[in-house]
Amino acid sequence: MRPLLSLLLLFPLFPLPVLPLPTANQLLALADAAPILTSSPYPLPPSLDPWYRAPDAVAWQPTPPGTVLKVRAAPFLNRTIGNALTAYQILYRTTDSQHDPSWAVTTLLVPVWQARCSTTATHLCAHAVLSYQIPYDTCNVDASPSYGLNVVGEPYGEIRDALGLGWFVSVPDYEGPLASYAAGLQAGHATLDSVRAVMQVAGVFGLRMDVAKVALWGYSGGALASEWAAELAGQYAPKLVIAGVALGGLTPNVTSVTDYINGGECAGLIPAGLLGIASQHPEAYWWILSRLKPATAAKFLSVRYMTAAQSIAAFWGENIYDYFVGGWADLRAARVMKMMYNVDGYMGYHGVPRMPVFVYKAVNDELSKVDDTDALVDRFCKVGANILYHRNTAGGHNEELVNGRQRAFAWLSSVLDGSYDEVYSTMGCTVVNVTYNIAPYVPWLNL
Ligand SMILES: *[C@@H]1O[C@H](CO)[C@@H](O)[C@H](O)[C@H]1NC(C)=O
Ligand SMILES: *[C@@H]1O[C@H](CO)[C@@H](O)[C@H](O)[C@H]1NC(C)=O
Ligand SMILES: *[C@@H]1O[C@H](CO)[C@@H](O)[C@H](O)[C@H]1NC(C)=O
Repeated sequence: MRPLLSLLLLFPLFPLPVLPLPTANQLLALADAAPILTSSPYPLPPSLDPWYRAPDAVAWQPTPPGTVLKVRAAPFLNRTIGNALTAYQILYRTTDSQHDPSWAVTTLLVPVWQARCSTTATHLCAHAVLSYQIPYDTCNVDASPSYGLNVVGEPYGEIRDALGLGWFVSVPDYEGPLASYAAGLQAGHATLDSVRAVMQVAGVFGLRMDVAKVALWGYSGGALASEWAAELAGQYAPKLVIAGVALGGLTPNVTSVTDYINGGECAGLIPAGLLGIASQHPEAYWWILSRLKPATAAKFLSVRYMTAAQSIAAFWGENIYDYFVGGWADLRAARVMKMMYNVDGYMGYHGVPRMPVFVYKAVNDELSKVDDTDALVDRFCKVGANILYHRNTAGGHNEELVNGRQRAFAWLSSVLDGSYDEVYSTMGCTVVNVTYNIAPYVPWLNL
């Protein structure tokens, strides 16, 4: 009797009842009752924080991508981020690089201006959402923005400036729960689903849903997520309307970037990228581990606990291929590695952006050859994309983050306020060489 009963419990003959998930509005009400932590501005890091878990798998896995699964208030973000009135964190359903159900977290910040918004003054309510992809460039989940924004604030002041324009700002942890740095499908899916999730709750904070527009913006590792979202949108989120996407310092080809930066100042991004992208490809992950030279494996693997800035400092100038028994060929000639890169490593093969796109790139970018971005833009332009592409003759990769900022804000403002058609060409591509030299020389910015 007893063994049979336990067998039945393990393999129920009838499906167990599935409790309905709470609605987004119910979750919001709960979030205001139980914020992130009441006594400390520093919540637990994601690896230790039980909030960073999806609810019961039977309930959430069949939900549509973008479904809001958890919400909590983040009441200390208005201390670390300028121009923030309040902030919330949303855990939502997404899809990983293997096309399996997954989840991710985004941080939604409400601008101070929204305090003037009320049901009797709806014209004062916000009508724009910026989905802002931070280049966090790490395979360490504890360096995810949802945690970092609480602890160290933001790296570049761009969230503050966007909030200052009255925009809602959403900052997704697009690398997901495995910190899958450089995995394009994962990043694109998580970015698109973060927008779907935010649009389910933003009306509660007074966003004018009847006229609201959404734009994406990313630089470098952030642009990797924004670009994959832009090219995947037509297939993966065909009903989601995105007004425009701004992409700075693009890295269209992961293996080309790897060869380009190996031995240089940013070589530390390679171990982080290898373990990040391979976290979506278990066979490649085990291959990488099995090919590490035993004497230096511990150092290579220490990148799992580093931020981007730490990994850059730790591997400065190193030849990363030397960590492998078979050198370069272990990473590139092996079949499991090729398969992984073909799925997750090359932009431009999963669709064509059907929204306006602004691309800005330093001709002398030392992280990713400008040729790769030229080729990507050309590829999209041949099939009817609407792209403004600025090739800046001044500065390198880090300078362009600063040199391009005002142009990105101006372009994003036009797509979000609806004046894009009056200011920019709405047909085809415009490729121009420009010279903007605002930034001081910086070897590597404060990632
Ligand atoms: C920050 O947000 C919390 C809760 O969302 C609020 O109670 C607090 O007054 C805000 N702080 C400031 C300085 O606005
Ligand atoms: C990516 O870059 C590598 C190295 O430069 C090159 O061999 C490969 O053809 C490129 N792949 C794609 C899909 O563009
Ligand atoms: C931009 O400069 C490149 C050289 O870097 C040149 O080949 C190209 O023709 C220029 N493009 C335009 C549109 O002027």
